[in-house]
Amino acid sequence: MYVCLCNAVTESEVREACDQGAETLSDLQDSLGVAMGCGQCAPTCCAMLEGKDAMAAIPASASTAVSGSVIRRA
Ligand code: FES
Repeated sequence: MYVCLCNAVTESEVREACDQGAETLSDLQDSLGVAMGCGQCAPTCCAMLEGKDAMAAIPASASTAVSGSVIRRA
């Protein structure tokens, strides 16, 4: 699953960066380039830094359109 659509960064890439020592959003921005475009992925990245699953970080009512794609929580 993509966490950052602007930069095509996946959940597994964010998880790997966290496993390798990323502790802040700035760390993820530096290593993966997340949250450097529209910023919609920042809350999800922050939640993942706290050890939460990416899907758990998306509010149940969330529906976000980014670059023509629509993300909806199932
Ligand atoms: S989705 Fe990550 S910066 Fe736009």
